[in-house]
This record gives sequence, C-alpha cells and structure tokens, in this order.
Amino acid sequence: MSNNVIYTARQFKLSGLNGISDKTIEMHIKLYEGYVTQTNLLTEKISEFIKDGNIDQEEMPAYSELTRRLGFEYNGMVLHEYYFENMKRGGAGDPERNSSFLKAAEQSFGSYAVWKTDFVGVGKMRGVGWAICNQNPANDRLSNHWISEHQIGNVAGFNPVLVMDVWEHAYLLDYKPAERPKYIEAFFSNIDWSSVEERLTNGSADRSMAAQSPVPR
Ligand SMILES: [Fe+2]
Repeated sequence: MSNNVIYTARQFKLSGLNGISDKTIEMHIKLYEGYVTQTNLLTEKISEFIKDGNIDQEEMPAYSELTRRLGFEYNGMVLHEYYFENMKRGGAGDPERNSSFLKAAEQSFGSYAVWKTDFVGVGKMRGVGWAICNQNPANDRLSNHWISEHQIGNVAGFNPVLVMDVWEHAYLLDYKPAERPKYIEAFFSNIDWSSVEERLTNGSADRSMAAQSPVPR
C-alpha cells in the first residue's frame, strides 16, 4: 500500500475545431491518457524500490531508468493538459485589445506582433517538442521556449500560459509533415484566450518571488 497520488485523465470537449480534425483530437487524447497511465505506473514502480528505505547497487540501474522516464511521462501528461485546455471550438486568433496577455506581450516584446513572430518561430523549429509561452512569476515577463520531447527546456517555477504541441502526432492526420506552419495557423484560430488570461492572472498573484523582486511596470 503506497501513498501515491493516482492521476486520472481529464476530459476535454474539443470537437469541431478549426483545421484540427476530430479524428486528430480523439487520437491525441488517447495518447495523453497513455501518459497519465505511465505516470501512475512509474510512480508505483519507483515506490516499490524505495519502500524498504534502501536502493542497493543491483537496483540502481533500473531505479535510475524509471526515474528518468518519469520526467518524460509526467511532463507529457501535464503539457497535454495545458494544450487541450488552451483551445476551444470557436476560439480566436488573437487576444482582446484590453487583455492582460496583450499588455504583457507588449511589455515583454515591444508588441504583440513581435511576441507572435517569436512564438510561431519556436513552433516551427525542427525536432519533436513544444512551443511554450511562460510567465516569469518574479517579474511577470513573458518568454517563449522550445521544449524537446516533453521534459527538456522547461524553466523551473515559470508559469506556462500558452502551450502548443508541435509533435507530428498533433497534425499528421490533417497535414503533411512539412506543413507544420498550416497547423500552427490552425492552432492559433482555436486558442481559448480566456484560459490564457486566467493563467496569467493566477500566475502573478500571491507569489513570494514576485514580492521579492519588484520591477517597474
Ligand atoms: Fe501530443
């Protein structure tokens, strides 16, 4: 009997998106559910290794491999939740003029257009991974990041406010491998900016780091 948290896959209603087929979404949600299953499984297996209070020499290779895989599976689970959550049927290409996101993008990049150039640019990078717009909780600044696979490049403590999956499975049923820019365009047309807005607001509230590092606004 362990004290492990058992994660259950969340439900997402994402049929009827623009330029991303229901078939893609169904397949993608199944993949996400696999990450949830694997996260639970690995956590359980690791707890077996540690429950006697000792990791001996023979156990170390298997224990290490499971622990490395946990970073991949865990981030795969969490990033997919951010991704599905920041899309909706009838989404909008760009945020509203008076939104906090637009103001944050202007403060951090000079203009929304420059922010978007960077985010889309990150999304077009070669390789499998993610484009993520993070908010630094210490100063509310936005920055865009490339994440290899699911676990390499995440900035500790940063708040992901917009998350875009650019693994080929996200678009291969709808577009050719070289047509990732078309998928990115479709992704933008489905963004649920209200969910982005909510993350921003929550992200900057009551963080001790923010109190420690005041910056002029
Ligand atoms: Fe994915």
